[in-house]
Amino acid sequence: MNLRHTLSKTKVLCSVVAITSTRQFSSSTVSALNICIIAGSTRTSGPPRPILSQRVTSFVKSSLENRGTTHEISIIEARQNLPLLERPHFSYATSQCPKQLQEMHKTLSNADAYIAITPEYNHSPCPGLMNIMNHFGSSTFGFKPSGIVSYSAGQWGGTRAANNLRPFLSELGCLPVSAMAHIPKAAEVLDENGNVINDEDLEQWNSYIDRMISQLEWWGDAAKIHKENVDPLKKSPTFRSNPSQRNAPS
Ligand SMILES: Cc1cc2nc3c(=O)[nH]c(=O)nc-3n(C[C@H](O)[C@H](O)[C@H](O)COP(=O)(O)O)c2cc1C
Repeated sequence: MNLRHTLSKTKVLCSVVAITSTRQFSSSTVSALNICIIAGSTRTSGPPRPILSQRVTSFVKSSLENRGTTHEISIIEARQNLPLLERPHFSYATSQCPKQLQEMHKTLSNADAYIAITPEYNHSPCPGLMNIMNHFGSSTFGFKPSGIVSYSAGQWGGTRAANNLRPFLSELGCLPVSAMAHIPKAAEVLDENGNVINDEDLEQWNSYIDRMISQLEWWGDAAKIHKENVDPLKKSPTFRSNPSQRNAPS
């Protein structure tokens, strides 16, 4: 390729950029979504102290409430005494499914998007979050986005837990958006009610979590609208009895 060819190609690319930048968007807001927060901590006492889950959950909830859009928000806390997984929701006949699982399933199914909140335990997501979510499958979570919020008492804000959570959420079909929120030394950042303690940091914390939420809203809105036109399960049905239907040809 000679220089003239390269330059003329560059020109074309530039004019494409110019056309793109004049595009008018029909709306700058997203529609109201049903967003389910799943808070993973099951700890009831320390040490380590304090228990941080409530602070982070309240911060996430108020961040959602402060968006320009009035979302419907539900919260599932892993400490709601769901037993360790013996039998997932999808393996029950409807008439035999325990009431608590049915209610949780209803809340999760109604959601358009999820926010998974996890403390970091041994560089991993907490077992309570995995336990709740393992009770349901991609038939519940699929074709909806998720956002990850992690926190810790230490300096890394649960980043290792958050990164480990990404493939788990992907497998469940609630694809995690790229922006995550990590809260290091969470007891120094948030008070008992989930308010940012230091006023000077407030704006930064708000815009930090808003980035994740705005991605979640965009994808949640897009998926919701598209689902009204195209049934996602038509070409990619949920598993009937086992996952073998996705096996590579042998
Ligand atoms: C079992 C366990 C493992 C932990 N592992 C980590 C860790 O790997 N990294 C970290 O920064 N903090 C770790 N911590 C400290 C937690 O960040 C801190 O206790 C935090 O408050 C946990 O959230 P929670 O209070 O909502 O349960 C661990 C705490 C527990 C109880």
